[in-house]
Amino acid sequence: MLQIVYISTAQPGFAQSDLREVLEASRRNNAAVDVTGLLVAGGRRFLQVLEGPEAAVEATLARIKADPRHRALVNLSSKQVDARQFGDWSMGFELGGVPGAGDLNAVVANLVAKLSDRNLAAQFLGFAEIHARAA
Ligand SMILES: Cc1cc2nc3c(=O)[nH]c(=O)nc-3n(C[C@H](O)[C@H](O)[C@H](O)COP(=O)(O)O)c2cc1C
Repeated sequence: MLQIVYISTAQPGFAQSDLREVLEASRRNNAAVDVTGLLVAGGRRFLQVLEGPEAAVEATLARIKADPRHRALVNLSSKQVDARQFGDWSMGFELGGVPGAGDLNAVVANLVAKLSDRNLAAQFLGFAEIHARAA
């Protein structure tokens, strides 16, 4: 199974409605091809994990990379894993660092507490710390 982690930046004008569309498409498409993962939006930054069958993850990532609603996609890691970290979610989601949202540090800390991959947990915690106030 392949697991990839990337960060990207929302294009100016990216709105709540875009986020809703992204999540709807993610949940529909990922469930159909056995991809699971997590998307964290901190201010204008995204951090996403995708995991599942290699071909499905790569096809999903290729589609995401071509999406004009965000830019500057940087792959942080790409590795083979034995088990999923987010097996319950076709695409879990957390939001922080924007008016009206919760404390990103707290939600992410709660979320990664159950991860067996502590490096991945540390990546998320670092991201939350940097972007919690970066609206
Ligand atoms: C930050 C971000 C994360 C995304 N994550 C996913 C994803 O996990 N799965 C997915 O299918 N599409 C994801 N998308 C949306 C894709 O770029 C694309 O719009 C979508 O897959 C098209 O699906 P459709 O052809 O069913 O409308 C994401 C887009 C953005 C901007």
